[in-house]
Amino acid sequence: MAHRIAFLGFVALAVCASLSLAADPANLQDFCVADASGNTRMNGLACKNPAMVQASDFAFSGLHIPGNTSNAVGSRVTPVAVTQIPGLNTLGISMVRIDYAPWGINSLHTHPRATEILTVIEGSLEVGFVTSNPENRHITKILKKGDVFVFPVGLIHYQRNIGYGNAVAIAALSSQNPGVITIANAVFGSKPDISTDLLAKAFQVDKSVSSQNPGVITIANTIFGSKPDISTDLLAKAFQVDKSVVWQIQAMF
Ligand SMILES: *[C@@H]1O[C@H](CO)[C@@H](O)[C@H](O)[C@H]1NC(C)=O
Repeated sequence: MAHRIAFLGFVALAVCASLSLAADPANLQDFCVADASGNTRMNGLACKNPAMVQASDFAFSGLHIPGNTSNAVGSRVTPVAVTQIPGLNTLGISMVRIDYAPWGINSLHTHPRATEILTVIEGSLEVGFVTSNPENRHITKILKKGDVFVFPVGLIHYQRNIGYGNAVAIAALSSQNPGVITIANAVFGSKPDISTDLLAKAFQVDKSVSSQNPGVITIANTIFGSKPDISTDLLAKAFQVDKSVVWQIQAMF
């Protein structure tokens, strides 16, 4: 009996342990600095000989320098992930600096491998994410300097500078390589293109709208059918189209 209870306890523990696995696998050594010249294919990058590891393998400089926001969306992300710091390999964490021009947006995107926790260093931001189907609930908040907000792993999210000055945020992500899928680029900017017929059906719009305005629409229900709506201004900037086009599509969902 005691054996059986001990065995059941072990099974329960094993189940809990497997359920509590973090986004990136747990480490079996102090560190595994990425070996840029290694050609072993694995989940992550091959380790450099620990004897050759230097302090510089764990360091990055320049995060105080504002990113260049002179672009269509008015924002710039400066990543500090495993590409910038080889010492992050296998550690399941990374960070970014995000600069926003007045009314600039960090467009609708998801990180397939990471939850994100963001804090505002300067200015104020409107932030939000949309839950998965079928609810597509739009969870949104206005953040001021010092406020912190979380974007759960995999969900489509955004930030927008709602002030008249520049805004700056720092975010941490739970992966050495979170990955970014920008919805507009992935759906309307793939190479080669996804068929126009397919996109027209996916977004329930006239083919002419889709082809005249590449990048108008995205993963339709989540972006255009969220409850409550994502701001029309923000969507117009995300997809580089006129606000009237966004209204037209939002009305269909
Ligand atoms: C910022 O980017 C724009 C557009 O690419 C470019 O014209 C400009 O020279 C850049 N500014 C700086 C300071 O690098």
